[in-house]
Amino acid sequence: MKKIATVVGARPQFVKAAVVSRELRRRGGVTEILVHTGQHYDDAMSEVFFRELELEKPQYNLGIGSLGHGAMTGRQLEALERVFVDECPDIVLVYGDTNSTLAGALAAVKLHIPVAHVEAGLRSFNRRMPEEINRVVVDHVSTTLFAPTEAAVTNLRREGISDSAIHRTGDVMYDVARYFGQRAATESRILKMVGATPGQYVLATIHRQENVDDPSTLQSIMEGFGRCGMRVVLPMHPRTRKQIAEAGTAVPDNLTIIDPVGYIDMSRLEQCAALIATDSGGVQKEAYFAQVPCVTLREETEWVELVELGWNCVVPPRSAEAIAAAIRERVGSRGVSASPYGDGHAAGAVVGRLLGPG
Ligand code: UD1
Ligand code: UDP
Repeated sequence: MKKIATVVGARPQFVKAAVVSRELRRRGGVTEILVHTGQHYDDAMSEVFFRELELEKPQYNLGIGSLGHGAMTGRQLEALERVFVDECPDIVLVYGDTNSTLAGALAAVKLHIPVAHVEAGLRSFNRRMPEEINRVVVDHVSTTLFAPTEAAVTNLRREGISDSAIHRTGDVMYDVARYFGQRAATESRILKMVGATPGQYVLATIHRQENVDDPSTLQSIMEGFGRCGMRVVLPMHPRTRKQIAEAGTAVPDNLTIIDPVGYIDMSRLEQCAALIATDSGGVQKEAYFAQVPCVTLREETEWVELVELGWNCVVPPRSAEAIAAAIRERVGSRGVSASPYGDGHAAGAVVGRLLGPG
């Protein structure tokens, strides 16, 4: 029986792995070893996703988080190597672009275990982002590259990766939104809990290192939210909470800051928002799945198709007025309808390629 070791560690990876692991269980005839690096560890950043998204409890939790890039990646690499030596998986499956992704891919390839990368080919072309380094390295040591979009396929081809290794599957996050997102309307009580009215608030998330660890950028983002003329609901990532406390950043009165929420509550907040302002990769796409306009507070985005379709606009986060103006302008706007992320069966395509047609 084939053995697949799946490496997860950060919030977006629990979300992506949920549908692929579910599909692996549905197919049967395969053993999946789920390895959690421990990169994210708070209940609201980790456990809640296992409870809500039908993920099995990980067989391993390496408990390696809250370190600098080198120490985190290095210690995860060492620990993952030991797991792979003991478990002898046929394939190591990694997701996205975090330090856990990089450690998983490097540990596997050095042991000559084939690496399969879900969300291959995404590029910001900004090498100052830790995620960009992780993605480029992981794609170039992977055997099987699951590209979510046409743009991702083009990026991989341009970097000389063989066509036979690239598989355009669609985006597993669309599968998650279709399968779990529809539970949000009946199961979530979040709007009541925060006292928010559908269509009357902006949903915001901010956690990118380049936005949050620079006090002046963080300050202009907060000021931009303060001047946007609407209530802003912001489930706050622990990195952001820590930086706000350390820098003493002022939080405007129209912001409702809450702890990070689970996927079901997040889906509900997205579905009912007038607009979403974010620096998250996943949340940009979920805005589109919910047909809500998005303002991306970054210098660039990897998800270029949403900008082309008019659902998203990229606003560099250095000017509070530009942020506020973009939010005011885009509320109520809509883009063009299309299917850039596939048909909601990306996990089936991933598993079909890993195990052969079912
Ligand atoms: C990581 C990923 C980023 C991804 C994000 C998803 C890398 C380089 N970055 O960024 O690509 O978009 O996850 O959310 O892998 N912390 C807690 N509790 C937790 C987790 C984190 O308090 O459960 C705090 C710690 O102070 C930690 C800091 O947040 O040092 C940053 O965490 P880290 O995992 O290093 O990076 P993220 O910003 O979460
Ligand atoms: N998310 C969540 N609760 C939150 C914030 C985000 O469930 O409070 C989900 C979100 O819906 C998406 C994923 O986490 O599915 C995105 O993760 P994140 O923004 O941390 O990382 P990125 O996608 O930028 O790597």
